[in-house]
Amino acid sequence: MYAALRSIGSYIPENILTNQDLEKMVDTSDEWIVKRTGIKERRIANDDEVTSDLGYKAALKAIDRADININEIDMVICATLSPDYLTMPSTAAMISKKLGITNVMAFDISAACTGFVYLLSLAKSFIESGAKKNILIIGAEKISSVVDYEDRTTCILFGDGAGAAVIGATEDKNEAIIDVLASADGNYGDLLITPGCGSKNPIREDNVKDKLQYMKMSGNEVFKVAVKTLTNDVIEILEKNKIDASEVDMFIPHQANYRIVEAVRTKLNFPLEKTALTVSKYGNTSSASIPMAMNDLYEEGKIKKGDLMLLDAFGGGFTWGSALIRFAGKNF
Ligand code: UT7
Repeated sequence: MYAALRSIGSYIPENILTNQDLEKMVDTSDEWIVKRTGIKERRIANDDEVTSDLGYKAALKAIDRADININEIDMVICATLSPDYLTMPSTAAMISKKLGITNVMAFDISAACTGFVYLLSLAKSFIESGAKKNILIIGAEKISSVVDYEDRTTCILFGDGAGAAVIGATEDKNEAIIDVLASADGNYGDLLITPGCGSKNPIREDNVKDKLQYMKMSGNEVFKVAVKTLTNDVIEILEKNKIDASEVDMFIPHQANYRIVEAVRTKLNFPLEKTALTVSKYGNTSSASIPMAMNDLYEEGKIKKGDLMLLDAFGGGFTWGSALIRFAGKNF
């Protein structure tokens, strides 16, 4: 049995936070943000919308496009760094409840911006082992809930959103997810971290006063490792599978910074028109960034059945990973 990516869907919150809005909140400028990151605006969920609401809406689209009934889903996994609740219940369980799925395995994973690639690896393994047949995977983030809007080094970067996909079992090797590689190195943990609210710095008045509940990033150091790792990821997965870069129909890297995508793309000689670029309109949406970008390409008719997609992600942990996938859904 092989695992096939049957569909893609996303949810993009309505509220837009522009660089001009941020100029009024912190000491920054549209010019600096565009020059250093390529970001012009990002989406922010409503106060009464939680991460599982975003994930649920993306999941509905993905299930509809996979041409299956909701009751055929036999597992739900969500990747998020901004869960509805810190410890329990899981965001995947909340999404399942909203979908009306109440009797299947549902759990979250923590792999920051590499979350969607980790989900693909998990779904592929569960399906290839024969344990599951239709797995709903979701990258969903209300990152605005863990961002300090007084910290100009992070608040200009991130946005909210969700992306989802159905991974189904197939006997047709031509439809299969070809390969997924994923790794982590906790030695870099401090460079991109939400220090508070876990067992290390529990929710206490002093920790909250020190703003430990918000994410902190050593941007420049992360940038350098990200470019190197994302480039190596691509080389490794293409070489391992004896696939030439020219055979890739669409390169879909994590959308953290235009300069990072450009550095990797030019090093690997991917044409611009074959590279996903959504960071200018969504900012960095962490685990949702790759499926949101994939969904946009799908809806623009730039990904069709049989197309070879190369995914590439990097994030806190550090975590990183890549995937080679043939799109096995119906055309938009
Ligand atoms: O998704 C997970 C992975 N995340 C990433 O891959 C993000 C990686 N990092 C980045 O994208 C970039 O490092 C940033 C966009 C975060 C920062 O760009 P940079 O070119 O690395 O800038 P920098 O951190 O070296 O800062 C340059 C200057 C500093 O001022 P001084 O020390 O040179 O006087 C900063 O204080 O820019 C200043 N600065 C700002 N100025 C205006 C930092 N943030 C801002 C800001 N507006 N928002």
